[in-house]
Amino acid sequence: MPLIAPSVLSADFANLVADIKMVNQSKADWFHLDVMDGVFVPNITFGMPVISAIKKHAAKPLDVHLMIVHPERYISDFKKAGTDVLTVHLEASTHLHRTIQEIKHAGMKAGVAINPHTPAESLSEIIGEIDLVCVMSVNPGFGGQSFIENTYHKIVALRKMIEEKQSSALIEIDGGVTLDNAARITHSGADVLVAGNTVFSSADPTATISKLKDIALSFQA
Ligand code: DX5
Ligand code: ZN
Repeated sequence: MPLIAPSVLSADFANLVADIKMVNQSKADWFHLDVMDGVFVPNITFGMPVISAIKKHAAKPLDVHLMIVHPERYISDFKKAGTDVLTVHLEASTHLHRTIQEIKHAGMKAGVAINPHTPAESLSEIIGEIDLVCVMSVNPGFGGQSFIENTYHKIVALRKMIEEKQSSALIEIDGGVTLDNAARITHSGADVLVAGNTVFSSADPTATISKLKDIALSFQA
């Protein structure tokens, strides 16, 4: 702890094996996989066949972030594809409590993601049930966007809530994480840093992952 989760969204899709091997051999902890449906978010990425293919080569857990409507329809499919941590959006889940129970019952860790406009307080009744909170620090849909500054106070509020409710949920920050803001994000109380563009657009992705890990270790709250 803290953990680094490179986002495959920014990897080379025509040569995924090379990027998966790079992550396997790096200081990264998880693979972050962004599933988008073109309905919940204005972009479409990939689904179960690609996750199954990644699973064959990945030596680290798969952290699957669903940006889809009706995520409860596909829980067992994502389990079969090799998901270790399955995160659904609060804004896409009418019966969130039931969905969380089903994810855990299927044998995965359960996460809930919140969009930038959703207050931390909206998780107060579910925080004791979940393994991870994914705080979106950009509007979901695309890699390479700028970090929304308002996120810092949400991290602090969530850390306080997690302590008060004696929850074991990890706080994951997703979107716009860079070598410049990683220290403040971690110091605010984050446990998992997702990084797509910062890792895969750098000249030396392995070294960038290492730098992110070192910053996170030095500045953890
Ligand atoms: C955005 C995705 C993120 C994205 C992060 O909707 O959920 O995981 O890949 O990419 P960067 O780190 O480039 O902002
Ligand atoms: Zn994501």
